[in-house]
Amino acid sequence: MTRKDKVRLAGVIGWPVSHSRSPRLHGYWLNRLGIAGSFVPLAVHPDDLRDVIKALPKMGFAGVNLTVPHKETALPLMDRLDDAARRIGAVNTVVFEKDGSASGYNTDAFGFMENLRRSAPDWNPAAGPAVVLGAGGAARAVIVALLDAGVPAILLANRTVSRAETVIAAIPGPVSVAWRDRSQALADANLLVNTTILGQTGQPPLDIDLAKLPKQALVTDIVYAPLETGLLHQAKLRGNRTVDGLGMLLWQAVPGFEAWFKHKPEVTADLRSYVLGDS
Ligand code: ATR
Repeated sequence: MTRKDKVRLAGVIGWPVSHSRSPRLHGYWLNRLGIAGSFVPLAVHPDDLRDVIKALPKMGFAGVNLTVPHKETALPLMDRLDDAARRIGAVNTVVFEKDGSASGYNTDAFGFMENLRRSAPDWNPAAGPAVVLGAGGAARAVIVALLDAGVPAILLANRTVSRAETVIAAIPGPVSVAWRDRSQALADANLLVNTTILGQTGQPPLDIDLAKLPKQALVTDIVYAPLETGLLHQAKLRGNRTVDGLGMLLWQAVPGFEAWFKHKPEVTADLRSYVLGDS
């Protein structure tokens, strides 16, 4: 077999991995673009991640996505890291180089901002402060994206204050706000982002009063199941513009696909409905 007609391989590593939408997403693009390639779910126990990262390039893999619980623990296993992965403290996209070494990237910040830019093109990041709810891995990616986009101030509200402080120590810029003051913190906001799991199917609702939020502020949720979360519904009802979280998932996948399969994929309405569907 010549190098040219070799089937290109990539996948997503998680533990568990069955919930991941990435095989469906990349599978759609492979099919649409007529690429001889495959994207597979790989259930890998945390203890085995190091061995797997070493073995995959030997098996012909061009790279992998990483999901829970591997994004942070993969950091020291990479031979090199991009700036976003270093700042966010997590790797979600791995590219295996010709010599078998691993380059770690984080495309979540790109995915978050690209989703906002495409869905709300006239929203101006520099126009005012952002309020970010939550201080997990997703919040770190959102904060890096907002800082890079020129958001002038970030108020970070998290139930556990020490976690917010840890994030701020790693990524200087945001100011911590008490969780109980989250509704008051909205007074001058130009953007509200939920990065907590609240509002996701099976989780408690996000309890927040939007009365103080300016009408021109944009509201977005990284939760995409359901697509219209309680927060987005509430924001729409009072006339705020909203952006749902599915676009972040789709856009964060673009750089990886391009690196592994050497084609630029498109994010379309058809892709959105395909990824949401079960058939
Ligand atoms: P991820 O890495 O995907 O962002 P995570 O690290 O589990 O996920 O973070 C989940 C976020 O949801 C955290 O900000 C968490 O708040 P704590 O740091 O206080 O745990 C937030 N969260 C989860 N359940 C919550 C609840 N019942 N009320 C408020 N915040 C909650």
